[in-house]
Amino acid sequence: MAESRIAVYAQLPGDFHKTLAGQLVWNPDTAVGAFSYDEDWRSRKNSYFLDPTVLIARPRKETRNEGVYGVIRDAGPDAWGRDQLIRQHGALDEIGILQHAPEDGAGNLSFHAEHRLRAYTLQEIDAVSAGFPLADTALAQAIQPGTSMGGAKPKLLAYDAGAFWIAKFPEKGDPECKGAANEHAMLQLAARCGIRACESRLHRLPDGRLVILVKRFDLSGTPERHTRLGFASAHTVLGMGDPRRDGQLKSYPLLRFEARRWTRAEIGPELWQRLAFNALVSNMDDHARNHALIHEAGWALSPAFDIVAAPATGPVRLCLQIHTGSVIATPASLITSASEMGVERDLAIATLREMSSLILEQWRTHIGEEMSGAAIDQLVPAFRLAEEVRAFDFAGLPPPVKARRYRNQG
Ligand SMILES: Nc1ncnc2c1ncn2[C@@H]1O[C@H](COP(=O)(O)OP(=O)(O)OP(=O)(O)O)[C@@H](O)[C@H]1O
Ligand SMILES: [Mg+2]
Repeated sequence: MAESRIAVYAQLPGDFHKTLAGQLVWNPDTAVGAFSYDEDWRSRKNSYFLDPTVLIARPRKETRNEGVYGVIRDAGPDAWGRDQLIRQHGALDEIGILQHAPEDGAGNLSFHAEHRLRAYTLQEIDAVSAGFPLADTALAQAIQPGTSMGGAKPKLLAYDAGAFWIAKFPEKGDPECKGAANEHAMLQLAARCGIRACESRLHRLPDGRLVILVKRFDLSGTPERHTRLGFASAHTVLGMGDPRRDGQLKSYPLLRFEARRWTRAEIGPELWQRLAFNALVSNMDDHARNHALIHEAGWALSPAFDIVAAPATGPVRLCLQIHTGSVIATPASLITSASEMGVERDLAIATLREMSSLILEQWRTHIGEEMSGAAIDQLVPAFRLAEEVRAFDFAGLPPPVKARRYRNQG
């Protein structure tokens, strides 16, 4: 089969217009991608390597993620958005997905020369939400063109009160819409704990259900005139996308290490606080697309997003290793994690204690009136580790062992 090509445009920091960054050539038989920068790209003010590890002066070929470079794939849709596109257009290959995808994906990359951003007012969202989730096909038909935002949950780009928001709709299995109130409460609690978390609001649909609106950190201005920041998911930063290697790459200490090649700065302590918060509220869906870097003057850790307390029996098991070899969070393993993430032990203990007390004292208040008493009670087990940390005798822990060092680590 013939190779496919797609032009990749970027909005550089502060620009309202797009600049041609280069071209992706993709071979459907081998699923290998090759990117080349446009001749003029390097001479543009503020231009940068879209991925400083592979999209460098002479870009490497890409075999991971079906041959689509991570930063380019991050701009396109994921599970739900892909489903919508396939329902509308039939089978699409990787390039077809990018070509047909709406332009509301994370970051500053897009695949058409002209702007095609479509944001919905809250009134429009109210209108298309009718009947959802009884038949989510109804949403698919009512909404053209869907979304390029990642993630598994139904969502749309909203514009309200002078800002862009991700409107996350209730899932089918969530009739009480616990997800929206839960996520809103956890983002607020995280902020109270000192984490740079996304701002969010709740919006009530005409039928009484709740939608969470999460403010976009990469998009500002108006639908007609906006600026965008670059975006790279932790999935991309970790170099994931090859199923044979992905298992061993899912790790916070590795993310800390790999991120240095992008940020040239230390993100370990900030990332550790986020992983500790995830553990304390049992947010066990902290996978590698739920962390990201953004690019403005340079690359930096993005605000925290997609945090949901999940009541479960058994240990708190995160998606990424919190220290080498373990995904299970306990008071002791969080301290081992701190030492691998560059956080001094006394500070780690104080932070864990403070965050646990704050979470235990405030989570019910932040959930507020939105959930029934029974639904709130069901959430109690999500905070078991916070209870354990609050009562834990950290002085009884053995002295720290030398932290693992990654290759080339200074
Ligand atoms: N505030 C934000 N600003 C910009 N991009 C965001 C923001 N929040 C999330 N994203 C991007 O949108 C994607 C989907 O958002 P989110 O993770 O909240 O959805 P989800 O459907 O709950 O995901 P999951 O599949 O993890 O359950 C994220 O993976 C990230 O790429
Ligand atoms: Mg997510």
